Amino acid sequence: MHLSQPVSLSLLSLLSTTLAANHDITVGPALVFTPNTTTAAAGDTLTFHFNPSQHDITESEFGKPCDYKTGGFYSGSGSLAPAGNDVFVVTVNDTQPIYFYCSVPEHCQAGMVGGVNVPTSGDTLASYASAAAKTSDSTTPKAIAGGVTKPEGEASASSSSAAASSSSASAAGASSKPSSAASGTSSPVASSGTAAAAAASPTSTGTAASLRDGNAGVVFGVVALVGAAVAGMV
Ligand SMILES: *[C@@H]1O[C@H](CO)[C@@H](O)[C@H](O)[C@H]1NC(C)=O
Ligand SMILES: *[C@@H]1O[C@H](CO)[C@@H](O)[C@H](O)[C@H]1NC(C)=O
Repeated sequence: MHLSQPVSLSLLSLLSTTLAANHDITVGPALVFTPNTTTAAAGDTLTFHFNPSQHDITESEFGKPCDYKTGGFYSGSGSLAPAGNDVFVVTVNDTQPIYFYCSVPEHCQAGMVGGVNVPTSGDTLASYASAAAKTSDSTTPKAIAGGVTKPEGEASASSSSAAASSSSASAAGASSKPSSAASGTSSPVASSGTAAAAAASPTSTGTAASLRDGNAGVVFGVVALVGAAVAGMV
């Protein structure tokens, strides 16, 4: 059978949704991320659980400890902070090492750092942490970036199945267009709720964007097409 291009793309997104793994990382309550290193594949998600919310997750680079990596992810802190029962979900796009820290003053210097796909020799997390300890201050970005804030329950449901993430996307999505404005505006995301923060954050990554663009009918249609394709092949 012949699949039209948009349907084929939706099909690919759906399959990658199904195969991607989620990795849970707890933020605090002490000055640690647990676990502090994670191995993740491209397309996997990192779900940061706030415990409580007096911390943040800020992406960095190995050579610039406690300094925000331009264009990197940032969960928000202070008036931008997620609620204690929210999570911040970041999609991993490749297997390059990722370093991150908490930008609350003194936390990075005290060792509140973490990594994804960091090497076990050379640019290790321990090397990053010892360089971080020697810095005098941390950079706090101005706007949430690179991930999606959502309520705890919704995140765990959406990481387990495509159907669940489709419904959570539509729940959050009525007012949210897939956003492309990453860092330009410093719009007033601060005091509004989770849905606004999610809508404002610059994450139109593959899975979330395609599911948001679609609707339950499309998803079920794709499932039906997969069934039809498999039936046709045997
Ligand atoms: C990472 O966590 C482990 C286990 O708690 C700990 O032994 C290690 O010192 C931590 N590494 C860094 C760089 O903080
Ligand atoms: C992956 O790409 C998306 C979309 O650009 C971005 O929001 C996300 O922060 C990126 N992930 C990492 C780990 O940089």
